[in-house]
Amino acid sequence: MSFLSLRSLSSRRCLPIASSRLLVSKLSSVVSYSTNPSPEPAAAPIQGPASASTSYSSFDYEGLFEAKLDAKRKDKSYRYFNNINRLVQNYPKAHTADKQQQVDVWCSNDYLSMSGNPLVLEATKTALDNYGAGAGGTRNIAGNSALHLRLERELASLHNKEAALVFTSCFVANDATLTTLVSGMPDLVYFSDSLNHASMIQGIRNSRAKKHIFRHNDLAHLESLLAQYPISTPKVIAFESVYSMSGNVGHIEEIAQLAKKYGALTFLDEVHAVGMYGKTGAGVAEHYQFRNGNTSVLDSIDMITGTLGKAFGVVGGYIASTARAIDYFRSYAPGFIFTTSIPPSVAAGIIASINYLRSSSSERYLQQINTRTLKQRLDKLNIPVIPNPSHIVPILVGDAHLAKFVSDTLLSEYGIYVQSINYPTVAVGEERLRITPGPRHTLEHMDNLVTALEQIWDKYSLKRTDDWARIGGKCGVGIDASQKSAFLQTRGWLPNEEFVWSNADLEYAKSH
Ligand SMILES: Cc1ncc(COP(=O)(O)O)c(C=O)c1O
Repeated sequence: MSFLSLRSLSSRRCLPIASSRLLVSKLSSVVSYSTNPSPEPAAAPIQGPASASTSYSSFDYEGLFEAKLDAKRKDKSYRYFNNINRLVQNYPKAHTADKQQQVDVWCSNDYLSMSGNPLVLEATKTALDNYGAGAGGTRNIAGNSALHLRLERELASLHNKEAALVFTSCFVANDATLTTLVSGMPDLVYFSDSLNHASMIQGIRNSRAKKHIFRHNDLAHLESLLAQYPISTPKVIAFESVYSMSGNVGHIEEIAQLAKKYGALTFLDEVHAVGMYGKTGAGVAEHYQFRNGNTSVLDSIDMITGTLGKAFGVVGGYIASTARAIDYFRSYAPGFIFTTSIPPSVAAGIIASINYLRSSSSERYLQQINTRTLKQRLDKLNIPVIPNPSHIVPILVGDAHLAKFVSDTLLSEYGIYVQSINYPTVAVGEERLRITPGPRHTLEHMDNLVTALEQIWDKYSLKRTDDWARIGGKCGVGIDASQKSAFLQTRGWLPNEEFVWSNADLEYAKSH
């Protein structure tokens, strides 16, 4: 590779001497960093200077930041960030701040390990060599590359829609599209599931449209809210297919029927389901179609959003819908128009990932088998798994300090990384560990995890399923048999089925 030499840079006539020295010192620090990286500092809260006051302003900005951070520490919502570096050749291993210290990762959303898939890496590298590292700007100004366009065609075809539009993330896709919808329909009313992700909440809030929050997965409540409006009022029902922190599944078919009855559009976030469910990895809507032979489920959803950063293993987000709706978002959504797009190399990697997962079910199969095995093993040990029919394994701890303590102990004493999930991501008292088994976890990895959890639960007398049952149950753990079927309904449980991937579905996946 040929770099511009430092001497030629500093001898350029247009560069003043002082700036050239600065540039040389900056470049040399970059060079010395990249050839000899020193260990990153371990994860720790970012510390500011001891004094909270600033000399450049009468307002105590630093004091304000400190007070706000202190409030977070007090209400236990302060977030801790661990230094974890996933090793592509050796995944699920990662190293911590110390390169010599390797740990097993059990909480990544790279659900199918596609970020390390050789076809994805190869496609990314080829496009990187041809088109460089960056996109060069917004799509409108820097140009609509062939790879972006191809990616959007793939996504539209995956969801059986006319068109799709790619954003830098699905947070941005949800926020931008829900905010923008209202500019065409000032009377629009949103109906939003109470467990919807922050990106949808933000989009609906930013739209300033009228909104109703319906109780999670409660169809009767949703219908009572819809029925308050004439059929001619524009309405959007926003909901998810797999709810990430509980693993619950949305009632897609039933919500689509209500939407039809009351003249509403359906907006379905399939972020935790794309790549994971359905015959070709299009998500839960496709899975129901695959399961029932009913071809109308995907069609009954007007707008589907998804991420390219979880099961597809790269980064980015999108919406798929009618050609007109997509053109409308492309023309009006500031979150699409005014930002640099994903690089072409990233688009190339995603296309490879989608194409691969459309035809290979073996990653989905292994992921589901590992999920079932882990849930069964923890159940047998009376370790409180929050029941759900999806690929997510949440373990109830019920206290923020304890959840973080368990996470820290797993990392420091057992070399296992599972982040704890605390308020406001989940309600106070429902703090948990969120485990995501993947296709590259072996039985040995699982033995280590199960042994570690059993020892920690034992040593620190953490509440087990029976203990939760004695105090009336929580989050479906240890609940009374009489409440069970109503509760399971909220989990999106299918009649007589324990998992979205039924045994028969798994047989299909095994052979494809
Ligand atoms: C349900 C849901 N929607 C949207 C997003 C945002 O997706 P992305 O990571 O692509 O921004 C997330 C992120 O975790 C999510 O859980």
